[in-house]
This record gives sequence, structure tokens and C-alpha cells, in this order.
Amino acid sequence: MPEAPHLRVSKKSKVSATVAVCSALVVFLYLFAITNTLSRITTSSTRIQEQKWSWESPESTRAISCDRTHFEYDMCYLKHPTIMDPTSAIFFTEDPTNSTPQLMEKIRPFPRNFKHTPINVVRQLTLTTAPPNVSCAVTHTSPALVFNAGGDWTTNYYHSFNEIFIPLFITVDTFFPDHDFVIGIFNCSHGWVHHYNDILSTYTRHQIIDFNQETATHCFPSAIVGLISHGASTVDPTLQRRPHPKSLLDFRAFLTAKYSQSHHAPPPPWTSKGKPRLVFLNRNGTRGILNVDNIRRAAEDTGFEVFIFEPSRESSMHEAFRVIDSSHAMIAVHGAGLTNMVFQRPGSVLMQMVPAECYWLASLCYGKMAVRFGLEYIVYNIDQDETVSEWDKTRGVVPLENWINNKEGLQFKLDLVKVKRHLKRVYERAKKFMHKESLSSSYKIKLSWGQK
Ligand SMILES: *[C@@H]1O[C@H](CO)[C@@H](O)[C@H](O)[C@H]1NC(C)=O
Ligand SMILES: *[C@@H]1O[C@H](CO)[C@@H](O)[C@H](O)[C@H]1NC(C)=O
Ligand SMILES: *[C@@H]1O[C@H](CO)[C@@H](O)[C@H](O)[C@H]1NC(C)=O
Repeated sequence: MPEAPHLRVSKKSKVSATVAVCSALVVFLYLFAITNTLSRITTSSTRIQEQKWSWESPESTRAISCDRTHFEYDMCYLKHPTIMDPTSAIFFTEDPTNSTPQLMEKIRPFPRNFKHTPINVVRQLTLTTAPPNVSCAVTHTSPALVFNAGGDWTTNYYHSFNEIFIPLFITVDTFFPDHDFVIGIFNCSHGWVHHYNDILSTYTRHQIIDFNQETATHCFPSAIVGLISHGASTVDPTLQRRPHPKSLLDFRAFLTAKYSQSHHAPPPPWTSKGKPRLVFLNRNGTRGILNVDNIRRAAEDTGFEVFIFEPSRESSMHEAFRVIDSSHAMIAVHGAGLTNMVFQRPGSVLMQMVPAECYWLASLCYGKMAVRFGLEYIVYNIDQDETVSEWDKTRGVVPLENWINNKEGLQFKLDLVKVKRHLKRVYERAKKFMHKESLSSSYKIKLSWGQK
């Protein structure tokens, strides 16, 4: 830890007096800030209590009201007690006004514009005020938030974040800031809930219900069906009406709060001091780089401490966080693995290596995402002669459908001269980030000293 220079305070009494006055002022301001924050927390939790049941549904007098005005998602609101039958995917809700004819709505609660697609990729749910033909097996006292996990679509890591974890963050912040609600998930691929149970249970105080596996009926005092999306990989503060609108950086803070407390993974793998740390994300099975050892050496020669991270399907987010959050830069070939950038700290560097034919996709998915997460973003264009996959040679370029469907493993042998040139750029920016980081940490040391 760098020694804070001001610790060598001059002994002249005039200076000491000034320091004393300043410290007192800092302490005062600090206490003032704490009191202020505390009172704000108290008032906002009171407000949450008051607002708990008053959702802004489009037609507040109807027992079922749906908002279908958004491009990417639909939302339905059930304000009264509801029985969910997972077998038939029907939600029977009470209607105190006994409206005739009975209300009936269909919804595919998945925040991607499948509602405009003729192919029924995601399961449809039915919401009705018809008298139920089932009775309650399990009764909950908290409201439900029910959504569709998009079937096989979310076996992809990127889509799990883009269509579930980020929209869920927005939706929970909008409707359930007290986290007192039950998550019910339809149409998730086998093992999905289990695999992501850790992150899913960060959003709620209650156990997650996998309606794909469940046969018992569940009853809730009320329910919201659907997830809010602000578009691909974004949390837009201008689209929120709550007093403290959230951004994508709040989403990152949410992940950090969860995973920095983790006791599930050993400490970060880094050993040397003073060198920028580079994570080389290699996916041997699907995006293999053959000359990975040469690239590691090139990165080390550039001045990096290098860690080759090979996440597998079983890798936990704890492990990804532990490695990536403590790094200054990450490099990876285009693909869902780049979603791990959610664990990078704003200001750190991301280099995406992009084969021909994927430029638009790479920029659309991960380029924009990197910028939104406040990363320094660099592109490495993989030329055709750096691609060694057999099928690729016969077709000339990387066929896009192979990228999207991920059917075949891809292999690359990168041009070392070109790699070194790019690594230098990554290094310069990573070094800058590291420098800023050390400035801000010595600033923090000063502040905490001043407050004592
Ligand atoms: C999801 O729903 C679609 C449409 O109903 C269905 O074809 C698919 O098999 C479902 N997938 C899972 C994993 O439930
Ligand atoms: C209840 O009615 C729905 C729709 O008519 C049907 O699909 C479902 O199988 C019925 N459930 C039972 C338990 O009879
Ligand atoms: C990557 O895969 C290749 C071929 O499947 C294998 O020979 C190699 O040992 C693997 N490398 C690592 C680092 O796992």
C-alpha cells in the first residue's frame, strides 16, 4: 500500500490547527451525510410499504390488465388472489367485479420481441377470471413475479444476462424493491434454475419455483407476469419513474455486492505486484486458440501478468468474478463468453477478437455492451489466414450460422506480430487504468485518515 504523503504533517502549530479544523469539518460533514442517508432510507422504505400493492397497471379497475405497448415485452398484472396451474400454464385469478364476459389474456412473458415472431419459441401462458378447475396446493403470502426463461434460448450465457438477469434487475427495482416476492419460472431448459440459482436467489428472499418441474398448484395474493426490458444489455435511467433510477453500473454493483462476499472460491490467482493483470479468456472447445502459449508469452513480454481462464459449463460466476474483477484487462474471441465483461471494473480494457462475417454481430452484442459498462473497448480483426477450422477453409469465411448456432468448435492460430501490436495498445490503457486506480485508493486512504 503506498504511504499517504500527508502523514508526514509538519509540526508547526499553525498547520496542526488548520488540520484539526479541517478534520472536524470532515467529521461533521461525514456524520451529516450518514444521518441524511439514514433518514432517506427510512423514508424510502416507508414509501415502499405504502406503495407495495399500488402497481401502475394500465387499467387499474380490471382484475387482469396487460400492457402491450412496448416493443420487446408485454406485462400483465393480476391484482387479486391467483391460482397457478403449472401443468396447463393457466392462471386463475379472482375478479371482485365479476365482469362479463370473463377476462382472458395470453402472454409470452419473455423480454425479447418474440411477440412479433410467428415461431412460438417461448411458451404461452393463459390468464383468466374463469372459475378455477383446480384448488390450491401451496399457498404463498407474498406476491409472485412470473416469467418465461425462453426454453433453450437461455442455455446461452449472453441471453441469460440479456433476457433474464438484466430485465429482472429492472423489474425487481420497479415493483419489489423490498425483495419480498416469489420468482416463478416457466419454460426453462433442464438444469437452468439449478445452474443459476445462486444469482436468481439474490433478487428475492424466497425460494425460486421452477414451474417446468412443478406439478402442484401455487396460490399468490397477487402476481405480475413478465419482465421489463430497456433494450439489449442496458438499464436506462430515463425510462424509470422511481425516485432513484438505476443504470447498468448499478447492475454491476449488484453483482459485486453478491460475489465479492463470496466464500465459494479461492482468492484471485495473481501474484506479482505493480503489473497490469490480463485475463485471457480461452474457450478451448468452441473458440480455441492454438498458439495460446505464444500469446501468453507475448503478453508477458508486453508487461502483463497473465491468467488464462478457461470457463466450462460448470464454472461458477463466483470463479469468474474472482478472476475478472481483480484484472485490468480481458481479451477473448467473439462469443457468449464475452458476457463475462459484466465482472470487469469500469475503466478496465476489453479486447474482442472478431472473425470475418461477425463484425456487425460482435459490435451489436458486445461492443455496445462494453461501452455501456464503461470499459475501454478494442477490436482485433481475425483475418482469414488466422482461422484454421477445416470447414471454414472450404467455405472461405466463417459462416455466420455456425457462430450463432455454435455447432462446431472453431480454431484459430493468431498472427503473433499483429497480436503484439494490439497487446501494446491494451497494455497502455490497462496501465492508465491501474494508475488511476492507485491514485483513487491513496485518495481513499487520505479520506479515511482525515475522518478519524
Ligand atoms: C419452451 O416453450 C416452447 C413453446 O411452447 C416449447 O416448444 C419448448 O419445448 C419449451 N422448452 C422448454 C425447455 O420448456
Ligand atoms: C382445466 O381447464 C383447462 C382449460 O379448459 C384444461 O386445459 C386443464 O387441463 C383443466 N385442468 C384440470 C385439472 O382439469
Ligand atoms: C484444447 O483442445 C485441444 C484439442 O481438443 C487439446 O489438444 C488441448 O490440450 C486443449 N488445451 C487445453 C489448454 O486444454
